[in-house]
Order: sequence, then C-alpha cells, then structure tokens
Amino acid sequence: MKEVQAIIISGGPSSVNDTAAPQYDPDIFKCGIPVLGICYGLQMLNKEFNGKVERTESREDGQFTIQVDTSCLLFKKLSAEQEVLLTHGDSITQVAEGFKAVAHSGACIAAIANEKAKLYGVQFHPEVDLTEHGQQILQNFLFDVAQCSGDYTMANREEACVRYIKEAVGDHKVLMLLSGGVDSTVCAALLHKALSPEQVIAVHIDNGFMRRDESEQVEASLNKIGLKVRVIQAAHNFYNSTTTMAADKKDPNSRKRMTGTLNRTVNPEEKRKIIGDTFMKVANEVVDELNLKPEDVYLGQGTLRPDLIESASALASGNADAIKTHHNDTDLVRELRKQGRVVEPLKDFHKDEVRAIGKDLGLPEELVHRHPFPGPGLSIRVICAEEPYMCKDFAENSSMLKIICTFANSSKTLHSVLNKIKTCASQEEQDQLMRITSASPLSSQLLPIKTVGVQGDCRTYSYVAALSSDEVPVWQDLVILAKIIPRICHSINRVVWVFGGAVQFPIEDITPTFLTTGVLATLRQADYNATRTLAQAGCMGNISQMPIVSIPIHFDRDPSLHLPSCQRSIVIRTFVTNDFMTGIPATPGKHLPVKVLDQMVENILQVPGISRVLYDLTAKPPGTTEWE
Ligand code: XMP
Repeated sequence: MKEVQAIIISGGPSSVNDTAAPQYDPDIFKCGIPVLGICYGLQMLNKEFNGKVERTESREDGQFTIQVDTSCLLFKKLSAEQEVLLTHGDSITQVAEGFKAVAHSGACIAAIANEKAKLYGVQFHPEVDLTEHGQQILQNFLFDVAQCSGDYTMANREEACVRYIKEAVGDHKVLMLLSGGVDSTVCAALLHKALSPEQVIAVHIDNGFMRRDESEQVEASLNKIGLKVRVIQAAHNFYNSTTTMAADKKDPNSRKRMTGTLNRTVNPEEKRKIIGDTFMKVANEVVDELNLKPEDVYLGQGTLRPDLIESASALASGNADAIKTHHNDTDLVRELRKQGRVVEPLKDFHKDEVRAIGKDLGLPEELVHRHPFPGPGLSIRVICAEEPYMCKDFAENSSMLKIICTFANSSKTLHSVLNKIKTCASQEEQDQLMRITSASPLSSQLLPIKTVGVQGDCRTYSYVAALSSDEVPVWQDLVILAKIIPRICHSINRVVWVFGGAVQFPIEDITPTFLTTGVLATLRQADYNATRTLAQAGCMGNISQMPIVSIPIHFDRDPSLHLPSCQRSIVIRTFVTNDFMTGIPATPGKHLPVKVLDQMVENILQVPGISRVLYDLTAKPPGTTEWE
C-alpha cells in the first residue's frame, strides 16, 4: 500500500491571487495521487493548470442549490440538484486546461474535474452538514477514486485516546478543568478510564458567567458518574481581571500592553483573552493550594477540532483566520502545549463524534445530549459597547437594506443600488425578493452594533439588520431574506426579526453596556425563562443550541422626546447543526412550534428592563452561533 493514497486540500481565507497566498509544491498534482481541492484547494488547482480565478461581485456565503454532473465519479449515487455550503469571494472565471466544469451554482462554477488525472475540485464544502450529501461525495472520492478502505472506527478512536493519554501523562497528575459541557466531561471520563483516580484532579471554576443553577447541576451530574469535582468560586477574580496582549494585533511578538479590567472591556477578542488567561491563573492557584509542583502537573482539556480551527491554532492549520479565540486556546495554553504539558484527547474530533464516545463510555443520556455552553459563558452573550457603531458605510448599508426590503416597490424606480442587487442576487433570488416584499410591508433598521461572523472563511465583525412588521411573520420567507441580505450587503453578517410590531423610530444610539452584575443578572433570568419554556414544551431535542443574547438596543424612543437609551433587548439565537462548524437557525413552524416561540417571548418579557425580544434568522455562515 502506498503511504499516501489521496490528498485533500482544504479551504482557507486567502485568495490564490494574493502575493502571500500559501505556497505548495506543484508536484503534488503530478505524482499520480488523487487530489480533491476544496474551496481554496479548488482555486489552487484551477490556477496551477492555467485556469483563471477572480474576485467577482457575487460572493456566496450559505446553503445553495447547485446542479451537478452525475456522470462524474465524484457525484456517483447523487441526484442532479444538490444542497451545498458555499462560502467564497473569489470564483473560477476560466476552467483550467484538461479540466471540465462538473457542477454549477447559477452562473458560478461549483466543481471541476480532470477524471483521467484523478484531480477534482469543489467550490463548496463537502465536509460540513450544510452540504447534505457531502459524506457521499467524500466517500466517492476516497473509496472509488482513491481506492481507500474505511477501516477506522469509533472503537479504534476511543482506544487510541486512552493510549495517547497514558503515553502523554505517564505518572504525572492531570488538572482537568470541567465546564460541565459534553466535551470536558467526555475528556474527564477518558482520563478516568486511562489513569488512576489520584492522578486526575477535576475542577469546576465558577467564573460568574454561568447560567442560573448551572454550577450546582454540573457538580451533581459529575458526582453521579463517580467524578469528585472541586468547585472554585471565582466570579470576582474574573470581573476584575486583566491580562496582557500584543500592542500590534497583526504582530504577536510586538510589545505587550495591559488590557483594562474585564468589566470595562467591550472588544470580544479581548474579553475572550482575559477570560482564557484568568482560567489559567485560577487553575495555577489550585495547583499551589494542593501543594503540587506546577512542572509536574499537566492540563487536561476537552478541546475539539472546530475550537482549534476557529482560534486559528497552528495545531489545526497554519493558515486559518482567527474567527474566535476559544478560551481553551489562548497564548498561555499554546505555551503549555509547546512544553508538551496539555493533554487534549479530543482535539481531532467534532461534537457528534465526542457524543458517540461519551455514550460508549456510559455517560448519562441527558449529559451527552446537553446543549453546549461555551467556557466564557454568558460573558460572550452580552454585547458590550460604549458608543454606537456607525462607520462611514452605515448610511449606505441602511439604504441598501431598505431597498432590498421594499424591492417590489423600489424596483419600479431607477436606482443605482438596484444594479448592485441585480448583480449579486441570482434571478431566483430576485424573484423571491419580489414575491416576499410584495406580500407584506417590512420595516428594516440597521442596528449600530457589531457582532462576529464568518464570511469566505474569514472573521467578520459587523452590522446586524433588523426586520419587523405589524403583520404575523412568515418565517420561511424571513429565513430566505436573511440569506439574501448579507449576499448583497457584505457589511451585514446577521439578520434578526423584532417581535412586537413594526419598529417606528430609527436607532442611532446604544445603551452603554459592560459586563456588570446587573446586566448579567437580567440576561441570566431571560435565559432561564426561555430555556425553561423550551424544556417544558419538550423541544430541547429539536435544536442543537439556544444562546440567549443581550444587545444594547433600546427601541421605540421618539427622537422628538429626547428619551435616553437605557434599556436593552434580548435575542433568541436558535441553532440546528451536527458538526457545529456550520448550521442553520430553527425555522419557527418547522423546527420549533410557533406557539412555543411566542411563549418564550412572553416569558422573556417578564424580566424587567427589556425593550424588545428579537429572533436571529442567520445561518452559519455568514453569522456564527454565538454573537461574539
Ligand atoms: P461559534 O460561535 O464559533 O461557536 O459558531 C461554535 C460552538 O463553540 C461554542 N463556543 C465555545 N466553546 N469556548 C468553548 O468551550 C469558547 O470560547 C467558545 N466560543 C464558542 C459555541 O457555543 C458553539 O457551540
């Protein structure tokens, strides 16, 4: 058997036309090994064989229906129409020599092949859930084109994890920080299986950003499976903590600067960094208290592959863009990794695989299927801001949004923006826009806040579009609109629906917001009311996750009355996914009964000080699951 049977080249944020584009040895395409290029990989392949790749007006970020040539081996067993995830700015404008286009998304080329040379490229991502038959495409490539055999099983993986832990840890002790989520619990259970009880020190740090009653539940459920957990109350350490960061964001080796305290910090990456580093400081204090020598202690983490990819960790890829620095992949953790003192048995796995291992290890069903909760907890679900975010492009995006939401009417008049819409949206999308906007009037506002998203494999940090109406929402149409808007306005990465009737007044300021106990208490109670409503309706299993988010927006203030912005609003962000790399919002009426959603809104509004409740309609991409 050859050592390498197939090569898959993955996507990435660069453009093949950049001078700094990742370098490669062109011989990989000529040595007879089958190659599948994905997204950036496809563009590399096309360019290498003298095809053209260019930035075009029409970028695609989301799920699209494409047409595939079913006579191509890559698309064996598939029907001609396929739902796939596309997320790219550059497109193929001329197919490479010796290749033919074997899939199309409207006018865009979605796949190319040189079947004789066993070279294939797809513009979409077959590795994620949003490509419905992606697994089949990968199987076709690996088993039919490259003649691989599938003998790597889940049981193999579990054994490999135990072996890895034994080898990595030896006789040392492992400090395992438990958030109570499935990843850290499965990791702890694996450590428990591989090592002796006195080697595993399980600690849960209550950082003050947990949900209502969560720390108590974490302790009780872990005790149930025989893991004694030490609970450390550290809320105050976190609120007032600081850390150091590189003064120049682009150069990690530049001079260091001290951040402000967490409760005065608004930038999401800075918040995440302070929290990640404070976790490590508190963990070191635990090591001290237990009279252990720091150099003898290893750190156990339930880090998954998507965490590393999104944090742009070199462990996953040297060329990814940092979407979010997950709390378990900060510089301090990276430094410990260099010293070989971090044990991460799950770092090559995705959430669904971790759940399968957890089930196999005998963990209780309710724990294995818990909705994930991020380590930084509610802190990344409070959008903090000192002032409204209104860049030069605010007015332009605002008016473009209005034209899209009134397309049926605006298209009757000549307007330069209409040309942009016509260039970026396919004919089918324009027909949909026409149908949706002629059916019922929609009010639209651009909110002056920023949230994190992911477009073309790059991190984005930009505006939210808010839609509302006095009429009952047609959810399926709103989800369609939420796909089209960011395709046309690239500075909008999230679209929400505002409950409570059409928004009348423009929103040009924000309620100054930091991570303070009052703001957190309001969010905690809103989250409790919403989650309890979902659980009582028996719908927890319908969706994969439901972050509840606080935004510093106070609606319904008549500008002529000069009322101050002092309230905040709450967003329900539902998410349906298996791999947590991509996913869609739950469509009310399809994934979630409308009655349950309405009840949730009513129960959230019971919490004092809330202006309006909103519903996130955005898929990932272009939005991320969490707002920061
Ligand atoms: P995003 O927002 O990037 O999140 O789509 C993907 C998944 O990761 C969770 N998440 C985190 N988990 N530490 C964690 O342990 C973090 O810093 C973190 N940030 C996001 C998020 O809840 C979702 O399940």
